[in-house]
Amino acid sequence: MKLLWAAVLLLAAVAPMCAAAPQRGLYLGAAWYPEQWPEAQWDRDLELMEAAHFNVVRVGEFAWSTMEPREGVYELDWLERAIALAAKHHIAVVIGTPTDAPPAWMTAKYPDVLGMNADGRWREHGGRRQFNYASERYRRFCAEIVAQLARRFGHNPDVIGWQIGNEYTDESFDPATRAMYQEYLRAKFGTLENLNRAWAADCGPQPFTDWSQVPLDPAGGGPGQLLEHKHFVTATWRSFQKNQIDVLRPLIAPSQFITTNIGGLAWSDNWDHYAVTADLDLASWDDYVGQGHLDAAKNAMLNDFVRGWKRQNFWVMETEPASVNWAPINNELWPGETRALAWQTIGHGADAVLYWQWRDALNGQEQYHGAIVGPDGQPLPVYEEIARLGRDLEATRAAISGTSPEAKIAILHDYDSRWAIDFQPFTKLYDQQQVLLRFYAPLEQIAERGGDAVDIVDPNVAPLDGYRLIVAPELNVISATLAERLVAFVRGGGHLLLGPRSGMKDENNALNTQRQPGPLVEALGGRVEQYYALDGAIDIAGTNGSADVWAESLSALSPATAVVLRYGRGNGWLEGKAAMIRRDVGKGSIAYLGTLPDAALMSELMTKAATDAGALDPPIVEGVPDGVEVCVRVAGGRRLLVLINHANSTRTVQLKGSYRTLVSPDGGVGSATSITLPAQGVAVLEQEGGR
Ligand code: GAL
Repeated sequence: MKLLWAAVLLLAAVAPMCAAAPQRGLYLGAAWYPEQWPEAQWDRDLELMEAAHFNVVRVGEFAWSTMEPREGVYELDWLERAIALAAKHHIAVVIGTPTDAPPAWMTAKYPDVLGMNADGRWREHGGRRQFNYASERYRRFCAEIVAQLARRFGHNPDVIGWQIGNEYTDESFDPATRAMYQEYLRAKFGTLENLNRAWAADCGPQPFTDWSQVPLDPAGGGPGQLLEHKHFVTATWRSFQKNQIDVLRPLIAPSQFITTNIGGLAWSDNWDHYAVTADLDLASWDDYVGQGHLDAAKNAMLNDFVRGWKRQNFWVMETEPASVNWAPINNELWPGETRALAWQTIGHGADAVLYWQWRDALNGQEQYHGAIVGPDGQPLPVYEEIARLGRDLEATRAAISGTSPEAKIAILHDYDSRWAIDFQPFTKLYDQQQVLLRFYAPLEQIAERGGDAVDIVDPNVAPLDGYRLIVAPELNVISATLAERLVAFVRGGGHLLLGPRSGMKDENNALNTQRQPGPLVEALGGRVEQYYALDGAIDIAGTNGSADVWAESLSALSPATAVVLRYGRGNGWLEGKAAMIRRDVGKGSIAYLGTLPDAALMSELMTKAATDAGALDPPIVEGVPDGVEVCVRVAGGRRLLVLINHANSTRTVQLKGSYRTLVSPDGGVGSATSITLPAQGVAVLEQEGGR
């Protein structure tokens, strides 16, 4: 076991080799469950899909008990027939490995494949996710079913990819996993002295004197213990996944990709998404609105966030056909909104959109969920809207294939920082997704005018050189290595803007002995004197703006460090203190913003930062009307514009340069200098003569 963890820790440290390139092209499809329906009805399903211009289905991810009805008895003929029938309708297949839901015979005979909840209760058969992700026996079962599938379909030309499991979510707190955790810690830290020092265990509870004392459930533990537990969960999901990748790779054609669909609306923080997707060919996620309507800025940010996991285009493996069944109110999206959502994801780098699910489930936990055809197999009202999207994709596929969004501005995000703040938010108002959005929304608006996107990347792994401006809204953990990378970026001519709470912790989630931003204090020539949780808004001097949630008083330590903003009068500890400082370093600069300004002031600050950094391209539109989103994908000399009107009334966009319409609200194609979009309207244009 010791050896195993040494290998897992090594795996985490090396860059993975990916066999297959991500799929090119543009896919539209759905999750299809042929095993739930009489075979005689499959052809009608596929005919309706083909009529809607679908070209992909995902199958199999919950079908283990159909694939292996009894231990060691594999029945895959039905799947082969389903794949062949889909191919007859020009529909390719992604096979989901069924490892999210083991069959009842397995959990009954081998209860150790079941996971244990944190409260000590063993999970039971009945739903999904009942398995134990760390169980060696379960992993052997997974490897065998995956091998059976891969031997059968690994070279089937109609199978284009593989999805491992489904939305990795629940860890296990059983005794065997606890022992594994202790072995993992021993492999990582070597001695208990090292572990106690890293966790500063003598600052709180007494130090551990035996490995067996370290609990798997870190609740109530210190910050170092909490963080290391997340690292273990990440490593365990990664090895759970690798167990299947290692079976698939040698058995499947290099053209077939391997992915997993990430749930939790992309934002879940159970484990590190950068680390887990590093071993995959393609990132994919499940983009649901749930209650209410599309929050365009947030969904744009989440799609950019997903694109940043592997820094390449991605798939939306699941999205809702207008409604879900798990929100407090499962309202239907407006007419046109389902299509607008799909185009938004494509505009931000999705190369596939698959609806969940094709047909209303007769029973089970998914009853009532949005679908495209009803329990009778006939189209529901949203079918026509999705078929329209299918026609759009037919009209744009050739032009869009191979293009991606491009960015000169990056926002930095990493899980250690996310976790460190979430373990100890200090104020319940500190919602990191909202903080990220406060920085992202103005930056996206600034960038889109020039035809650029905003990347969201992990600075520990992403190359930074290509960016002009990097903004780090919540980089709480900055290791010495990362600090060196950031300083090198700045010296080389890049511009770095740090947000509040930056550089407070080291990689063990211990406080740095220097004040914030820790290892960047010297380069910044300034530091944080104290941080404050705010219970109301405070003024920013010399502006009409205010800030809320969090404020830090800053000081400039070097004469070369300028104070950019100060807190206004009447703020007690903060009055007159520096709120933002900035220093030129090498050919670039570092700035530190110690608070969260309101939207107008934030927009001013981001505009200035982007302008000073030379991160803005000349406008490609005359101005972006309120509620309209301009997404741009490029490749070589090609430039594709996706214009989406998220507002509830008509908007007109004046274009600069000459464009050819591929998709327009009135169906017209040809040259265009302006486009009028109704509410939820979409237009796709290609620049004439290249960019
Ligand atoms: C996803 C899951 C799907 C389905 C869907 C319903 O999280 O992967 O299998 O349950 O939710 O919205």
